[in-house]
Amino acid sequence: MQNKYNYLRCYLLTAVAICWQATLFLQPYRCNRTLMNILEWHNTGIAPTDIGNDEMREISIAEKLIGLVQRTGQVHAFAGKCPHAGAPLCSGWLDAQGRIVCPLHKYRFDPVNGRNTSGEGYKLFTYPTRVQDGTVWVGIVPPAL
Ligand code: FES
Repeated sequence: MQNKYNYLRCYLLTAVAICWQATLFLQPYRCNRTLMNILEWHNTGIAPTDIGNDEMREISIAEKLIGLVQRTGQVHAFAGKCPHAGAPLCSGWLDAQGRIVCPLHKYRFDPVNGRNTSGEGYKLFTYPTRVQDGTVWVGIVPPAL
């Protein structure tokens, strides 16, 4: 009898563990969907085809300086000022791997995720983008949040 209860307890604990793992697995997806819904989307008025492969475009949205770059067929948006000392990143250039090179101290950043690929430990802020009605839209968190 005792053995039977042990099996039952083991099954129950396994079921609870699986449910817990499932909620942890789905959490980022839920957060991401919620975040996408609360963003303010701004039309840049720029078609994805207007941005060349080795080109960065600087735009101003909601009093923010934002850079646009096209990489692997997608347009990525990033903060226009370098997180190190505020240099205008769009005055820099893209290296052979498509990373942004800051014109001032030559730190490099991945425009897809903002990672500081030259290893100084900075993080470039990136913004979500989407293409709608033939133009690029950039999502910004509203100032009230
Ligand atoms: S300001 Fe960009 S690397 Fe220093």
